[in-house]
Amino acid sequence: MKDIQFDRHRRLRTSDTLRSMVRETWLRKEDLIYPLFVVEGENIHKEVSSMPGVFHLSLDGVVKEMTELVNLGIKSIILFGVPKEKDPLGGQAYHDHGIVQEATRLIKSEFPEMVVIADTCLCQYTDHGHCGIIENGQVLNDPTLDLLARTAVSQAKAGADIIAPSNMMDGFVAAIRRGLDEAGFIDTPIMSYAVKYSSSFYGPFRDAAHSSPQFGDRKTYQMDPANRLEALREAESDVNEGADFLIVKPALSYLDIMRDVKDRFPLPVVAYNVSGEYSMIKAAAQNGWVNEKEIVMEKLTSMKRAGADLIITYHAKDAAAWLSN
Ligand code: PBG
Repeated sequence: MKDIQFDRHRRLRTSDTLRSMVRETWLRKEDLIYPLFVVEGENIHKEVSSMPGVFHLSLDGVVKEMTELVNLGIKSIILFGVPKEKDPLGGQAYHDHGIVQEATRLIKSEFPEMVVIADTCLCQYTDHGHCGIIENGQVLNDPTLDLLARTAVSQAKAGADIIAPSNMMDGFVAAIRRGLDEAGFIDTPIMSYAVKYSSSFYGPFRDAAHSSPQFGDRKTYQMDPANRLEALREAESDVNEGADFLIVKPALSYLDIMRDVKDRFPLPVVAYNVSGEYSMIKAAAQNGWVNEKEIVMEKLTSMKRAGADLIITYHAKDAAAWLSN
């Protein structure tokens, strides 16, 4: 081995301290957004069978849950509503006493510091499970926009700090921005699901939210996983329409897209670490096949390295606890 030339990268890896001094990416509690499923009814605290550790919660359990989150140092949640009644137009999504509106009022009155993000979509609220109005088996784009704007305004009225539209109709950011502004909510930001793929990784969520489409699929509005340029066009439209944050969803199989979005648009980027990504790790960990803590922290750190500023994740409670130790 005499006279060969090479670099000594291992010099910077010789101790824990040195490694932490040269670490480029850090996960912080402030990065974590915890998804919460709120359901109508009483005394409900029911584990979602395909998502161990994730629960359906009725309003009476919300204060206890929030106390736990605050104690863990989690500063933000995203609310998903599971209504009792569904109809073709998703009326409970924009009802002033809908489950998300009620939960938001309760949380903001008891925990004013908690940043409440309202997921704005119709699929949990429509009897057909699609994210928009249906006519002749088609999901109509433009008429759906009015319902989304109404939903966003009723969520903002209830006190939501951020509106997060996830339904992938064209023009939804423009429509919601106009609705919010006209109702006086000029300071309520929009966290847009700008880049949302039609993904099998949403399977467990649809169990949790009872939101599977009753016919067909979501491929006419959600994106083809094979496409990258299309993601940039989607993100660009949302930026032009007034989005304040850009979500890339799912996260793990789309880290390349996250990097592209981060490099091109000067907005905070949010990774949505979706249900299927969560459940796979849970299942493997329960079998003893992976080290849950290490694999979760590696995965969340990878999302930040790929450009995410914030991460919506069902692992948030665990990660916050691990970050404290
Ligand atoms: C729908 C919506 C979905 C998720 C959040 N909102 C997926 C879908 O059914 O298309 C998925 C979240 C997850 O899988 O964790 N508006």
